[in-house]
Amino acid sequence: MSDGIRVLRGARVALGVSGSIAAYKAVALASALHQAGAIVDVALTADAQRFVQPLSFQAITHRPVFSDLWAPGMETTAGGEGGHSIAHVTLGHESDVLVVAPATAHILAKLALGLADDPVSVTALAARCPLVVAPAMDAGMYNHPATAQNVATLRARGATVVEPEVGHLASGLSGLGRLADPERILDVVRGVLGRNGDLQGRSVTVTAGGTQEPIDPVRFITNRSSGKMGYAIAEAARDRGAAVTLITTPVALRRPAGLAGIIEVETAEQMLRALRDAYETADALIMAAAVADFRAASVADQKIKRGEGGLDLRLEPNPDLLRASADWPNHRGIVRVGFAAETRDLLANAAEKARRKTLDLVVANDVTASGAGFAVDTNAVTLLWPDGRQESLPVQPKTEVAEAVLDAVGVILRGRQPRMEAPSRPRTA
Ligand code: PMT
Repeated sequence: MSDGIRVLRGARVALGVSGSIAAYKAVALASALHQAGAIVDVALTADAQRFVQPLSFQAITHRPVFSDLWAPGMETTAGGEGGHSIAHVTLGHESDVLVVAPATAHILAKLALGLADDPVSVTALAARCPLVVAPAMDAGMYNHPATAQNVATLRARGATVVEPEVGHLASGLSGLGRLADPERILDVVRGVLGRNGDLQGRSVTVTAGGTQEPIDPVRFITNRSSGKMGYAIAEAARDRGAAVTLITTPVALRRPAGLAGIIEVETAEQMLRALRDAYETADALIMAAAVADFRAASVADQKIKRGEGGLDLRLEPNPDLLRASADWPNHRGIVRVGFAAETRDLLANAAEKARRKTLDLVVANDVTASGAGFAVDTNAVTLLWPDGRQESLPVQPKTEVAEAVLDAVGVILRGRQPRMEAPSRPRTA
């Protein structure tokens, strides 16, 4: 088992921080990047240092901070053996991505014009890696034509813009300009780092969560699925360059940024319709969702009143989505992966499901095992292929299980042509 997030492990991330009240959120971003396994080098403008001390970043990243353009050279290699050199040139050349967060109107203007007179703008001018900017400023400044033009210029040059959010601003007003959540920025950085990955140009549809089958306007039947497994797969596929469509039930998870689309559904019927649409472009379908096998035969219009006696509820079967998808005219060529949630005879039951649903891969999941199945952060699964091959994986984080599933999907996909041009990944997230 290894820590962190695969695409960030060992990645060199340069984080440029400019002078906004939101600079404190850059500390959280630096921490999240570091914990995920990235080597984070921070560059601070003088104005940023009015809000946050270099020491905060140094303590979090365990790396020297580039805070003075005129200071002697800084240590630049990850292992600490490489001595000193010109910080901005080295940072610019060695980094895999440069993230400017928060990016003030002023730094955006400098980056657009190619001005270089502070640690962040000189690093940006020297950089040979992708640029991500996360603007933060007053709404009026963000909407000003000058800023809009600078953002458009950076985008046209290939930069990825993490749009600010609407919310409370330092001015006391509310509007568009609040720095995006560090978690959202992290998502975008992951997607940018992975965009040339092994699933580049492929379109992957992932389902997640437990469907909710209504009984009356206030009640439904559901199951214990939290969506964690499906979300981990969707995020990992994005980090390998895929255009991901996530079909999700109303789970209590943050919706990932940088996906091609997120479709919210509640019932199995709604998931079926969403799947049919996604099938038009999908190269692979991964069904991690726990789809209810039964639904109420009739849904009451009004809340069912509590009576003296019990309540007899008649259930009818839901369609089997995976099985149905095998008969859709446009299914040919799609890699279809199912999960099998079992409480006994794991491998026999999973193999039977794979045959009945004509799957390319089934992920057998003993949901009674400790540290596996519903709602926990870890899982233990066995991968089963139609030719009888099996691979049992130990208990590990769902993020790692997701990578193992995608490794297998990637191998199957490499034998197949992309079905059509994958929808492009958003430049703005
Ligand atoms: O969401 P988490 O809390 O992280 O939990 C993860 C998980 C346990 C839900 C996940 O790892 C898992 O096992 N998902 C499959 C759950 C399930 O419905 O298994 P099943 O054996 O009933 O169904 C087999 C396959 O057919 C599944 O891919 C399922 O999505 C699909 N199915 C099931 C019923 C149905 N009516 N239509 C379907 O397409």
